[in-house]
Amino acid sequence: MNEPGDRFIGLEEKRDEAMTETLYGGVTNRRITIRDLQQAKTSGERWTMLTAYDYSTARCFDDAGTPALLVGDSAANVVYGYDSTVPVTVDELLPLVRGVVRGTSRAIVIADLPFGSYEASAEQALATATRFLKEGGAQAVKLEGGQRVLSQVEALTNAGIPVMAHVGLTPQSVNTLGGYRVQGRGEEAAHRLLTDAKALQNAGAFAIVLEVVPASVANAVTSALHIPTIGIGAGAGTDAQVLVWQDMAGLRGSRKPAKFVKEFADVGTILRDAATCFADEVRVGSYPSEEHTYE
Ligand code: KIV
Repeated sequence: MNEPGDRFIGLEEKRDEAMTETLYGGVTNRRITIRDLQQAKTSGERWTMLTAYDYSTARCFDDAGTPALLVGDSAANVVYGYDSTVPVTVDELLPLVRGVVRGTSRAIVIADLPFGSYEASAEQALATATRFLKEGGAQAVKLEGGQRVLSQVEALTNAGIPVMAHVGLTPQSVNTLGGYRVQGRGEEAAHRLLTDAKALQNAGAFAIVLEVVPASVANAVTSALHIPTIGIGAGAGTDAQVLVWQDMAGLRGSRKPAKFVKEFADVGTILRDAATCFADEVRVGSYPSEEHTYE
């Protein structure tokens, strides 16, 4: 008869075997974990994270092998049309997390804690993060800030919730930063950023996003930390890169792209053309043709 612990026998050996796999071309039959991301830092493998907000695009990115998907509070802008990330709520983000989790079998899914849902206390952060894991199905959460969120990072990590930190340009603080501007410029600001990053690592963060900081500062943080750094507008020296998928794929609408954005496709034009072709064919009567019609 099986003993209760039998299902764990041999698991550690299997896991250690899996740890030698790479993020790209390896790990095919399970979800990426924070240990895999840590292993990539150790082996020097660079990787990408993309935002995702729904089932269909999450499936595409999972099929493409993107190891980490972030249900960012940037959904405020690109899904809900707000002009900053400040207004978006837990209740608006939770359904998006569920869709992304259902659309993936391999990528680790990280849910962003929105403004106002974690700053007050470690207890508030724990309650919110728990909802994203239990109700949303995410495997990790992200929150913004340095020293001021250390107790939150520690509480979540101690509760078994992996935390991705985020420093530099933290869009939820746009009102105190005085706009979306480069952070960490100058000796003092660079030192503060490095100190924050180290403190977040010590508090238990498994990775850290560095947003819109000089490359030299991002490089210094990356070499000082043993956890992965994920850059956005932070130069080429971070361990990974993240982009909002609409920026990456050219679906920005009329907004001018930031300097760090590279459009790897023009999905906006492709969608507009498809909608125009659909309308043209309906108007002249060539769609639906026999091929698309039931007898
Ligand atoms: O919300 C978001 O999309 C983000 C990334 C830009 C890192 O925080």
